[in-house]
Amino acid sequence: MRTPLIAGNWKMNKTVAESVEWARACIAGLGDVSDREVLVCPPYTALATLAPLLEATPLALGAQDVFYAEKGAYTGAISPLMLKDLGCRYVIIGHSERRQHFGDNDAIVNKKIVAALGHGLKSILCVGESKPQRDGGEAETVVTAQVRAGLAGLDAAQMEKIVIAYEPIWAIGTGDTATAADAQAMHAAIRATLVGLFGDTVAAALRIQYGGSVKPDNVDELMAQLDIDGALVGGASLAVEDFLRIAHFV
Ligand code: 13P
Repeated sequence: MRTPLIAGNWKMNKTVAESVEWARACIAGLGDVSDREVLVCPPYTALATLAPLLEATPLALGAQDVFYAEKGAYTGAISPLMLKDLGCRYVIIGHSERRQHFGDNDAIVNKKIVAALGHGLKSILCVGESKPQRDGGEAETVVTAQVRAGLAGLDAAQMEKIVIAYEPIWAIGTGDTATAADAQAMHAAIRATLVGLFGDTVAAALRIQYGGSVKPDNVDELMAQLDIDGALVGGASLAVEDFLRIAHFV
């Protein structure tokens, strides 16, 4: 039913030469992965070089963010049209680091998603609570509100191109992964929210990734959970052997 999606988010790491070396090793090591999708999201600077290397391989290309306008006077911004033009299939939107350092809020995230879908890019909507929010018992309220706001105005057909990534902020880059049970509970809450918004069929088909200190030694347990349909991997995606082990989760 749901094809798992394992994605590497390199964040602001790797030169073009390092990206090429990683991509060659990754493609060589992937083998038969027809039962899962594998995606890498390098920095913008490596996209054009990696696109032809990844063509006709099982490794898909994505970007880490996008602006919502198609073109114009937006210094420093990259449009969905430009990403599509380079061969990107996916784009990450609303990552907590974008929300924290670059001012992306729910309304901006929603505009970016609508713009990305308008150009045929699949969007990975990132949601997740902070440590104080979890400790205060607000995690589910915060996360489901982010889901509602991020997907506002979308219809069932558009939802076919959406992936949600649950990334608790306190688990990102800390080595402090959510327990498989806690992650599963949040994924189930997200799916229940989707049932309310879009109905059973859309909710059952939509993939929900977990992100936050996913490593070779915890991926199998996370992926065994009923509502965990993939992983969005930061630090461990930088070393190709680790990423390959994660992509080959059992
Ligand atoms: P880490 O895997 O480094 O915790 O990062 C997760 C993440 O933010 C992926 O988008």
